[in-house]
Amino acid sequence: MLEKLGLLHQQAAAELDSAVTSDALAAWKTRYIGQKGEVTLIMRGIGSLTPAERPAFGQRANEVRQALEAAFDLREGAIRDAELAKSLEEGGIDVTLPGRKAGVGGLHPSTRTLRRFYDIWAEMGFQVYRSRDVETDDMNFTLLNFPPHHPAREMQDTFYTGDKDVILRTHTSAGQIRAMRELGGDGSKPIRVVLPGMCYRHEQITNRSEAQFHQVEGIAIGRNIKMSDLKGTVAEFARKMYSPTAAVRYRASYFPFTEPSMEIDIECFLCGGKGCSVCKHSGWLEIAGSGMIHPTVLRNGGYDPREWSGFAFGMGPERITMLKHSVTDIRNYWANDTRFLEQF
Ligand code: DAH
Repeated sequence: MLEKLGLLHQQAAAELDSAVTSDALAAWKTRYIGQKGEVTLIMRGIGSLTPAERPAFGQRANEVRQALEAAFDLREGAIRDAELAKSLEEGGIDVTLPGRKAGVGGLHPSTRTLRRFYDIWAEMGFQVYRSRDVETDDMNFTLLNFPPHHPAREMQDTFYTGDKDVILRTHTSAGQIRAMRELGGDGSKPIRVVLPGMCYRHEQITNRSEAQFHQVEGIAIGRNIKMSDLKGTVAEFARKMYSPTAAVRYRASYFPFTEPSMEIDIECFLCGGKGCSVCKHSGWLEIAGSGMIHPTVLRNGGYDPREWSGFAFGMGPERITMLKHSVTDIRNYWANDTRFLEQF
């Protein structure tokens, strides 16, 4: 029996070496080490041996079986690799390659900031009014009370189309007159809207200035709207958006379409007003331009300024988001580099 086992081992090993396809390999497995294979059968014959012969035979048979199984595994791996290589060479599809995961998309950081803006303004009763990116010179400047030779009208600031009266809006204020005329019922209805959108300026692009950026404008018009309404409303927004405890301050300023005009600052929410590199050690961050809507602008929108008044504000969300996340280059916003975008 032992001798027979030895011969079987040799024969099986030799045959395994000559198996070169996975079909041949499968046949070999059935023939030798399968449930009815020869090695299995010879092991079952152990009962015909004398008790004294059994241990030696049993041990040897196990060794043979294990050796053949190990050789089979090796051979199987080699044949699989060879067949795969061959099929790849022939242009077949390698179904064993792990697939590439589809990346999960995310919202652009500006979109996220804008949506937060809309939520907060909606809570305070401001609906979103979308105005156009391509505007007339009238809407962008003239009807907003820009004096004829105001510097902002100069060529270097504005993108003109072929028609010099049609431009890309330089600020969302351009939508003010449209909102008043469309929603104001010929000067008979109060309105409260925010006007978000992309603005365009013919600027030298640097890490601090881009040729396009978002603004969110807001206007509220009613019969008895006062400066204190503007201050309270914007302060409430600033606390909800940036920091619940931060102080807000107002600085006198000038815009052609508001009178009086002011800039609104919030106590730096990064250093708590103590002074840091983000607020340039001033303790304050500028968040908006604002003011009481100029009587001429109200009139251009269809309202009688003797009966109606309103306030307006304009904010640049990218700038604040940059400060918040220590983004040092504004060009990242529109460069579409996922390494930047994925961080938000
Ligand atoms: N349009 C101004 C700008 O682009 C921002 C602004 C200031 C808007 C004051 C307003 C405002 O509505 O009242 O710089």
